[in-house]
Amino acid sequence: MEIARRMDFMENSVFASLRKEKAEFERNTGTRVLDFTLGSPDIPPAPAVIQTMCIEARHPGNYRYAINPVPELIQAIQKWYQTRYHVRLEEDEICLLQGSQEALINLPLLYCNPGDGILIQDPYYPAYVDAPHIAQADILFMPLKEENDFLIDFDAIDEESRRKAKMMIVCYPNNPTGAVAPDWFIEKLIRFAHDNDILVVYDNAYSDLVFDGQPGKSFLSFPGASEVGIELNSFSKSYGMAGARIGILCGNKEVVAQYKKLKSNLDYGIFIPVQYAAITALKIGKDIVAKTRETYIGRRTLMEQSFTAAGWPIHLPAGTMFVWARIPDQYENSYEFAKALLNDTGILVTPGSALGHEGDRYVRLALVVNSYTIRQAAKRMKETEFFLSSTD
Ligand SMILES: Cc1ncc(COP(=O)(O)O)c(C=O)c1O
Repeated sequence: MEIARRMDFMENSVFASLRKEKAEFERNTGTRVLDFTLGSPDIPPAPAVIQTMCIEARHPGNYRYAINPVPELIQAIQKWYQTRYHVRLEEDEICLLQGSQEALINLPLLYCNPGDGILIQDPYYPAYVDAPHIAQADILFMPLKEENDFLIDFDAIDEESRRKAKMMIVCYPNNPTGAVAPDWFIEKLIRFAHDNDILVVYDNAYSDLVFDGQPGKSFLSFPGASEVGIELNSFSKSYGMAGARIGILCGNKEVVAQYKKLKSNLDYGIFIPVQYAAITALKIGKDIVAKTRETYIGRRTLMEQSFTAAGWPIHLPAGTMFVWARIPDQYENSYEFAKALLNDTGILVTPGSALGHEGDRYVRLALVVNSYTIRQAAKRMKETEFFLSSTD
């Protein structure tokens, strides 16, 4: 059987090959790898959320198709957006998702014909480049440079890209750089989208993981945002529900309506106990989120202090659960560095180049490991003099 050509674009996930290297190292050395690659949250949901899920899973009636969302969940989402983000959402401005990934992959099908363009940040979250391939759209990269605080440089987007682009995917707090966008940037983004008639898909998966200053905002809280775009939000990071798939698409009514139309052909809604668990998560949300944030703050500070002391200067990210760390100059690229780090210390990191051309001099470390693992990593770096010998 011949596989369709579109499948050629889907490279094996970088995480799958890293898992292979990890297993090989452990087999050959008998040493446990300290793994900083995957962004799957290790903080479980609050006990009340798990309890709700268990109670609702016992009701035989909750196993039907969930074509219409549980009305109390829509109300809870409206209240959440009002109190947390100061955004008023109508019912027809909300669509439930099986996690925000679902919409990231499917949205280009709504707005892109083959050959249309999608503007994507580089470095990127991998789904951003898979989606255009599925829709046979062209990827137009927007480089994120450290000298611009990893913000998009709108002036650098040329006329042809502006004309060709139907959509742009924007993510702040940003995975992988950890950058947070200031208000003036969002205002500029809305003007840019409006002037060039481009739909903004604002990926806000990390809005609760902003560490300093004001809490993370909603894109929709800025004037004009819902005329040019939608926001994706997630229960995965804030509420530790990554495996109990649920997220939302909200904002522009026309996009929401079109997406619901597409979705009616894709699935039959979200398992009802998961919807009830999400209601509980939102009810007790403030406390859960504050605790989660504190945990990540503790880890990022520990990583900064202990890794820097071991000879690898790490800068604190402003948000997300990731550290985007520069590699020492003498390595050819981030793959070479990651390989050497694994071989010499048994520490596994994601090479930045796997997340885009701009990641060539960086690696990503996910803060989803406990403090003990962070300390162990620093100890191994010190004992092997990995960074001390790097800077000789
Ligand atoms: C930037 C970004 N967007 C979206 C997602 C997907 O989240 P969800 O679990 O809601 O599908 C992730 C997951 O890691 C992510 O890092």
